[in-house]
Amino acid sequence: MERTFVAVKPDGVQRGLSGEIIRRFEQRGFKLVAAKFIQASEDQMKKHYQDLKDMPFYAGLCKYMSSGPIFAMVWEGQNVVKLVRTMLGETDPAASQPGSIRGDLCINIGRNIIHGSDTLENAKTEVDLWFKAEEFVNWTPVF
Ligand code: CMP
Repeated sequence: MERTFVAVKPDGVQRGLSGEIIRRFEQRGFKLVAAKFIQASEDQMKKHYQDLKDMPFYAGLCKYMSSGPIFAMVWEGQNVVKLVRTMLGETDPAASQPGSIRGDLCINIGRNIIHGSDTLENAKTEVDLWFKAEEFVNWTPVF
């Protein structure tokens, strides 16, 4: 089954939006298979965003992402990479439709509260970067 990496960013955590964000993915029907509340190092964030290393905002992005705790998760489900990205809205909250997470909950591209893997290939890389095999919970809903 397809998996994707999602992280509530430090601004999302500090604004108390983790629960709202998790609620949306649960209610859509995706399954949480791994989660941890951590403060990442700047080096870890540099690895995570290495594709953006030539962008002018890269250093500031890595500093912001390591400035406070994040809620890192792996969600599983059919077509989860693409559907989670649709639920997130656009990278720029100002261009995000109402009803999307960013369209409802934030305004600023530099403080866009959540990250979700953009492709299946990046999802695999990011899941492996953030989670070890033993951190996954194998479970089947029975209720
Ligand atoms: P994310 O989905 O985590 O992927 C890359 C991140 O880079 C993005 O969300 C934003 O947090 C950040 N980003 C992209 N464009 C800009 C920009 N123009 N200015 C500042 N941050 C940006």
